[in-house]
Amino acid sequence: MKRQQGVALTRQVPYIRLPGIYRNNIMSNSDFGLIGLAVMGQNLVLNVESRGFQVSVYNRTTSAMEEFVAQHPDKKIVGEETLEGFVNSLASPRKIMIMVKAGGPVDAVIESLLPLLDKGDIIIDGGNSLYTDTERRDKWLGDLGFRFIGAGVSGGEEGARKGPSIMPGGPTSTWDVMKPIFESISAKVDGEPCVTHIGTGGAGHYVKMIHNGIEYGDMQLICEAYNIFKAAGFTPEELATVFTDWNNGDLESYLIQITAKIFEQNDPETGNALVDVILDTAGQKGTGKWTLINAVENAVVISTINAAVEARILSSMKDKRVTASVILQGPKAEITTDKKDLVKKVHDALFASKIISYAQGLDLITAMGEEKGWGLDLAKIAAIWRGGCIIRARFLNDITDAYRKDPKLSNLMLAPFFTDLLNGFQQNWREVISIATLAGIPVPAFSASLGYYDSYRSAVLPANLLQAQRDFFGAHTYERTDKPRGEFFHTNWPDVIG
Ligand code: 6PG
Repeated sequence: MKRQQGVALTRQVPYIRLPGIYRNNIMSNSDFGLIGLAVMGQNLVLNVESRGFQVSVYNRTTSAMEEFVAQHPDKKIVGEETLEGFVNSLASPRKIMIMVKAGGPVDAVIESLLPLLDKGDIIIDGGNSLYTDTERRDKWLGDLGFRFIGAGVSGGEEGARKGPSIMPGGPTSTWDVMKPIFESISAKVDGEPCVTHIGTGGAGHYVKMIHNGIEYGDMQLICEAYNIFKAAGFTPEELATVFTDWNNGDLESYLIQITAKIFEQNDPETGNALVDVILDTAGQKGTGKWTLINAVENAVVISTINAAVEARILSSMKDKRVTASVILQGPKAEITTDKKDLVKKVHDALFASKIISYAQGLDLITAMGEEKGWGLDLAKIAAIWRGGCIIRARFLNDITDAYRKDPKLSNLMLAPFFTDLLNGFQQNWREVISIATLAGIPVPAFSASLGYYDSYRSAVLPANLLQAQRDFFGAHTYERTDKPRGEFFHTNWPDVIG
């Protein structure tokens, strides 16, 4: 989709043009370089520059670079037409951030940079790269004597400009060099910068991937709450009020805040609420899917995030859904519960499900951190998610506290603060899922979260029968409740075929 610029770009450029160089009256070497002037890249440059650093920029399409530099005549931004000029404009050791599309484009930029760099120069990949790509690049560049940081950067356009949450991975010695810049450009919460050295290799991009999985979960849970309210006849104005109230309470978070704003937005064309004219098919770039694949590989349950990814997939099957909507039967999607009562119940269901989603995401981080020997610090990770990033939320303070008190916490649900919340919410949570289910309203993420909660707290599950089935058809053996663990038994089950 083409981006609306809103403002016409001027070509009256007040900078001094040197051969191949677009300088805003600057002659010294730059502290930082950035390649890739899409919106995130541009905003990061402005952010870095605003903290007192001089920044060189390069973009494959020169006109985009020229326009960007021209728009900021008073800033210490050096635009370069060539990669050679860009590299030469940087102070040593060079610190070059790449903000291009994940995958092949990152490798292509690195390949073209390498012949121009000196050993010890630092390349930072600030895109949403797959952590395994980051591990490969870390080894590749490390073997050649260069330094590499794979940094997850969260916060969207506004965060990039005003202060994102940054999740850098790579060697500690390289982090030490980058720390002053990262700390100055990141968001701050209680004076603490929302950046920390996550771990070596691909740890930073890995944690950003899980952040995004959690982001998917949060967004889907909000959408399910919205769907329930819609069936209960809430108008966009009423929805804006509910979400604004929630944002003033314990559910305070960026995603709840922007949801309230979305309900307030009118469509200039029709005069109706904009949300009502937006087509119900969700896009996704892949980080949620990567999170699921990694969870399966680690045998960690992330059912809330799973439901969120699958909900996006189902939403994208618009034509099939429209066809099925007049073939497959269900109840009338109508909820008659008292509105005030419903708001309280849905609040509890949403909050409980959100706790589960984070419990699962953090569980996966723990498992993977152990597997890779990254030495991840969950309290620090939760702390840097308190500000700047898309999932920033008041309750991340409580998650941070929980891990500060008990770094070896086996599951977030078992931290006393969250246990109390879940115990308090669970009845309304069940009621909301029942109300929605009886009205035929899909609540896959609410249900998956409750299913996890109920499974996790079940001392006995029906897997005894499952083991019997496995033993029946495949002699896979089973353990007995009345014998020590580790002793396996087999039964000669009756034949059932002819
Ligand atoms: C962030 C966001 C950002 C991006 C998502 C969108 O933390 O700033 O997560 O990285 O908006 O990747 O992802 P989808 O297109 O998959 O929704």
